[in-house]
Amino acid sequence: MDFIYLDNASTSFPKSPNMASAMADFITTKGININRGSYSPAYDVEETIFSTRQILKELFNGYDEQYVTFTPNVTMSINTVLQGLLNTGDHVLISGMEHNAVLRPLTYLSARGISFDSIPCDTNGIIQLESIESLIKENTKAVVLNHGSNVCGIVQDIAALGAICKTHDIYFIVDCAQTAGTIPIDMKACHIDALCFTGHKGLLGPQGIGGLCLSPRISEVLKPLVYGGTGSVSHLVSMPTNYPDRLEAGTLNLPGIIGLYEGLQYINQKGINTIHRHEITLANRFIDGIKHIPNLILVGHNATFDNPTNNTIFDNRTNHASPELINTSNTVAPKNQRVAVVSITSTGVDNATLAYRLESEHHILTRVGLHCAPLAHQTLGTYPTGTIRFSFGYANTINDVDAAINGLQQLMI
Ligand SMILES: Cc1ncc(COP(=O)(O)O)c(C=O)c1O
Repeated sequence: MDFIYLDNASTSFPKSPNMASAMADFITTKGININRGSYSPAYDVEETIFSTRQILKELFNGYDEQYVTFTPNVTMSINTVLQGLLNTGDHVLISGMEHNAVLRPLTYLSARGISFDSIPCDTNGIIQLESIESLIKENTKAVVLNHGSNVCGIVQDIAALGAICKTHDIYFIVDCAQTAGTIPIDMKACHIDALCFTGHKGLLGPQGIGGLCLSPRISEVLKPLVYGGTGSVSHLVSMPTNYPDRLEAGTLNLPGIIGLYEGLQYINQKGINTIHRHEITLANRFIDGIKHIPNLILVGHNATFDNPTNNTIFDNRTNHASPELINTSNTVAPKNQRVAVVSITSTGVDNATLAYRLESEHHILTRVGLHCAPLAHQTLGTYPTGTIRFSFGYANTINDVDAAINGLQQLMI
């Protein structure tokens, strides 16, 4: 790779070391469907798919493998839950940091008599927990929340929010696009009813696979979004009510699940806390390095976060396939952490020009604009211009961070 990839919030790159070969092996040597043929190779594939559900359930401390269902991405997961749960007259609370993956389905649903309000966040993007009680109405059915911001990296206190939802008997739906695989998430401790994830970001899998991890109580009431064949109870013309079949009409993305399985194996092998701390060390170094560059503004919280104590992280780019990450103990994520997503804006140079010059002169790839989250930019005060976003992944190194700092220093002179 002759560029420095700092757009891991969009999709992680490189992927987990064995992902591509496992997918290629499946396609070339197995390639058969599950739940359809009653021959033994199909059962072998089925076993891997079941193991993937199991690993995901364990990663999120979910309730049961049957409640881990696959979708193409988190956008589809969120749509499945919102459209399968909400009825005319229902009210939903979201936060001021939501992605269009939440806003657009809810805007569509508002034409069907479903209303929503936004819980305010401060200019750091942190949800104002004290505002929630007054926004809850008699017909409030769910809180839908972006766990980790894809704009400024703030991570919301889902334990506190989950407790509020539990007290009021409200479903708690969490968009874990940026946090699944990058920080520990405890679905039960946080009273999450629907944990929506995508496979191609922190879970280090391929594009085209995502899913849901559901609580038993939401599983009972969800209606399918898509109807069709499941390979089970074929004599029935209605969808099976059991899980995971209830939400999995049509052939699954088996190569995608097999790729995701490899991503999960890698995360478990390295340890999610190790990956998190590695990424946060990089984000902190970047924040510290650019803080004093004239005419650059850090967006959202601009302090460094969660500094690892053993600050010896790998420092070369030679082994992207399996970098050595710092090792730390397995601790639960503290509240108001961050993920390794940092946004900046400039007062002197247009953001798009800056991003273009970072690529053309320094080979650094970033993302510029609104990042599909106009509401978050309104909250953070960067609408409509947007920001330049730097997002660090497990395979990035100190050298990558320093190249970005140096590049910005040179361009801002
Ligand atoms: C917070 C958040 N939600 C939803 C999405 C949508 O992800 P996907 O395109 O995988 O559905 C993203 C991706 O950028 C995101 O950052």
